[in-house]
Amino acid sequence: MQTDYKLHFACVFYILSSILRSNMDHYEELKNICKDRATAVPAELCCYGADGSQVKGKPDYVLFPKTTAEVSQILAYANTHLIPVTARGAGTGLAGGAVPVNGGILLDMSQMNQILSIDIDNIQVTVEPGIVADKLNEALKPYGFFFPPDPGSAATCTVGGQIANNASGMRCVKYGTTKNYVLNLEVVLADGSVINTGLNCLKSSSGYDLSRLLVGSEGTLGIITKAVLKIAPIPKARKLVMISFPSPENAGLSVSRVFAAGVTPSACEILDRTSVSVLTKLDPDVIFPRDGDVVLFEVDGSKNAVDEAAELLAKACEDISSSILITDDPVKMKEIWDARRLLGAAVSKIDPTKTRIYVGEDLGVPIQKLPAMISKVYEITGEVGITPMIYGHVGDGTVHVGLFIDVLDENEWQKLHAAADKLHLAAIELGGTVSSEHGIGAARGMYMEKQCGPAFTVMKTIKKALDPNGILNPGKLGL
Ligand code: LAC
Ligand code: ZN
Repeated sequence: MQTDYKLHFACVFYILSSILRSNMDHYEELKNICKDRATAVPAELCCYGADGSQVKGKPDYVLFPKTTAEVSQILAYANTHLIPVTARGAGTGLAGGAVPVNGGILLDMSQMNQILSIDIDNIQVTVEPGIVADKLNEALKPYGFFFPPDPGSAATCTVGGQIANNASGMRCVKYGTTKNYVLNLEVVLADGSVINTGLNCLKSSSGYDLSRLLVGSEGTLGIITKAVLKIAPIPKARKLVMISFPSPENAGLSVSRVFAAGVTPSACEILDRTSVSVLTKLDPDVIFPRDGDVVLFEVDGSKNAVDEAAELLAKACEDISSSILITDDPVKMKEIWDARRLLGAAVSKIDPTKTRIYVGEDLGVPIQKLPAMISKVYEITGEVGITPMIYGHVGDGTVHVGLFIDVLDENEWQKLHAAADKLHLAAIELGGTVSSEHGIGAARGMYMEKQCGPAFTVMKTIKKALDPNGILNPGKLGL
């Protein structure tokens, strides 16, 4: 008996020490591949353990690759030794997509941040994944072009993260989401092999669309090391039409009305009256109407087209609205859009004891279902006893819900999670999605089966085929 106990202890000791030893050995090997661009310092690892969501994790080591060859060698090594690999851009995600929930390697892609070519003749750019979205647009501006996807985090997020999430934002109602701009990706697969998902052509009808497959795959199928992206000319003129409505449902209804009038706005943002009061508390001089729920429409194009669209748009909403303001003053427009960009962070202005928590925040429904979704948000949060703020890109059916709580009150956390669960189920019930643009990550995987139906089995089959050892971003997408 005594001997058995000793033997057992020795075995456990041997296994533990060999795991510890091999972890350090792995680190040395991986560090070599990256020519010492790596860290395993605990305090530094902590910086990679979160994003804007409630998902937490901790990598065993962080690597900073600079070339496709390095990423390829890292993945080949990880695949042989069954080490999880999570890629991260700027960590601005809101669903834990870049949080290494199973530990392992964190690939910080921020040093692969070059613009490799700006090819105006072919209306495209080639970039490395770590380029920051706004930096790409700064570089394109002198050519009179831009990369349209415009997430709220554009000042800091990376284009690689945008692609991995199929990010979108304010302009997508007219310009489409990231997927509409990806022509070709260089991708390192789980075993270290490198492929191109397409060609540098504006279109190609040649089998499965692997670029689209990779867009939104959140690092679960491969690591993007280069992207060829379509770009668009900067429009000559813009006009803002700010309309207030007597109810948020009327604000939701305005979207279908505007499309039915033949207008495709270049932005279409709802701000319910709680959102408006947050923004006016932040800056009392900002020119938002105080008499209801607001939709900010923007139209762009040639001067004549913009004038005509603004007029049609206002007319389409006349009988369901309370007030209409039309402006093309660039200073006023900038002030209004800057305020809108601050909304997510400014929410605690309404009550400084409360913090905005990003859960249940990214619902999406067919636009005709917007009034129903908006009513549901108020109904559900009312039942649970929590105040919501509704905003978002309603032109493409996105309903952002800002929920804010006293984080020291356990009861409020419970209410928050109950509300988020009901909101997600309500969006699915209306034929919509639990994530319109922020992604599934580790925060919303439990809804994939319900939302996708049998297609989720197909997703699992694809994952198994491309990453049989499950090393790429495990714990994500509910896979
Ligand atoms: C926005 C982010 C939250 O629209 O998607 O502000
Ligand atoms: Zn958004």
